[in-house]
Amino acid sequence: MKNLLSIALVTGISLCLTTITVADTAKGEGLYMNFCTPCHASGIAGAPKVGDKSAWQDRVGKGTSAVVENAIKGFQGSSGLMPAKGGNSALTDEEVSSAVMYMLEQIK
Ligand code: HEC
Repeated sequence: MKNLLSIALVTGISLCLTTITVADTAKGEGLYMNFCTPCHASGIAGAPKVGDKSAWQDRVGKGTSAVVENAIKGFQGSSGLMPAKGGNSALTDEEVSSAVMYMLEQIK
């Protein structure tokens, strides 16, 4: 009985984890669609186009956390200006991070 209970518990926990991961990607996609497409869908103002591997290769080479940090804090690169949080200061760091994770998913 004790064993059954712990199996049920473990299954329950992993089910929860799965739901959270799925929700996060969906959340990232939604945020990207709302706040990041103006520049990143078509590569406006020098923004790396989402899905364009060559535009992202060097950026990803710095490491995911550096890329996420640049998106949160904003940065002036050689191709243009990435406004902090895409210009939407109301977004949380976590929201920006999930939008970046969605963007990086598109070049895998
Ligand atoms: C006003 C246009 C604009 C908007 C809106 C915008 N970006 Fe950017 N973004 C840029 C530009 C331009 C660059 C390239 C800067 C450079 O490398 O010179 C960039 C670069 C990036 C990078 C690459 C960072 C790196 O280290 O190379 C990430 C990640 C990113 N943006 C994420 C986002 C996210 C997430 C959003 C939405 C919340 C967003 N951007 C909205 C213009 C924009």
